[in-house]
Amino acid sequence: MANLRRLGGGEGSLTRLTPRRGRGTTRRPVSESVPAYHAAVEHARRPSSPEDITAAARKSFDEAPDARLRFLLQRLVEHLHAYACEVGLTKAEWEAAVAFLTDTGHSCSDRRQEFVLLSDTLGLSMLVDALQSHLQAGVTESTVLGPFHVDGSPLRPMGSSIAEQEGSGEPMFVSGNVRGIDGQPLAGAVLDVWQNAANGLYAVQDPEQPFENLRGRFRTGSDGAFSFWAVRPVDYPIPDDGPVGRMLAATGRHPWRPAHLHLVVSATGCHPVATHLFDRTSPYLGSDAVFGVKPSLVVDFLAHGPHEPGAPEGWSDTWYSLERDFVLAPAET
Ligand code: BEZ
Ligand code: FE
Repeated sequence: MANLRRLGGGEGSLTRLTPRRGRGTTRRPVSESVPAYHAAVEHARRPSSPEDITAAARKSFDEAPDARLRFLLQRLVEHLHAYACEVGLTKAEWEAAVAFLTDTGHSCSDRRQEFVLLSDTLGLSMLVDALQSHLQAGVTESTVLGPFHVDGSPLRPMGSSIAEQEGSGEPMFVSGNVRGIDGQPLAGAVLDVWQNAANGLYAVQDPEQPFENLRGRFRTGSDGAFSFWAVRPVDYPIPDDGPVGRMLAATGRHPWRPAHLHLVVSATGCHPVATHLFDRTSPYLGSDAVFGVKPSLVVDFLAHGPHEPGAPEGWSDTWYSLERDFVLAPAET
């Protein structure tokens, strides 16, 4: 088939090569009268080798005007075909993969991105992250953004709390400085923060929480310092009620992420960084379902008694604190 197509139009081209039968003509074997037809049939009968198919698919992109697109698609074809050959992909497996990707597409909506989740759980998101980071020493490392970030979180006063609902979790005071790699404080830097509640859910997942619960933005003053109250985040499973969850279950993988606070830290003239602060005591640090843990992002949440100075008003139990600086690279690097 592939060879026939190259001759100019699939099976249709054979019909065009067939001599017309008319009144008064005797029917002769086509092989005698139309050598091109004979050659085409012979060629079509020979099974195309995997190499021929890969070469034809690769060649089909030769004329792509955008050089980068041409490169991306030709390498994709080569790697995809090499994978199919290496594993001896069966028709049934190919059909199962198509059905899985179809389900993944059907699971996507304005509120859910199952393809990104698939990329996350296959380690592709963190691989892309690693390929982007040309990290200078001391710059805060990035990790996955995740699906629960909401644009336009409320700008909150420095030192205030992102918890809008009682029962959101155990209070945790977070403070530090935002600096450039030259050590200078970054004035007007914005920390966009979001996290889950004690029930493991982000507000966007949980109709019982106020929509802006446990998220907010804080802008540093001239000293680059910041502080806010959050709650101690908890371990939680990524959304596993869809195709990605079925993939994890079928392969004996768990869906859990180690407890973390999300931040995007940005400042004029600097590379923004999407990052996490992970709880050092989490049992999932070594098996994050989306491979997002980097050692430099693991921190200690310090426990305090209810009577220690700084305790939140009206709180009579353990509370936590965390001090952490963020260092941004200049935008041109
Ligand atoms: C998150 O941390 O919110 C997250 C990241 C990747 C996939 C699912 C959730
Ligand atoms: Fe998260």
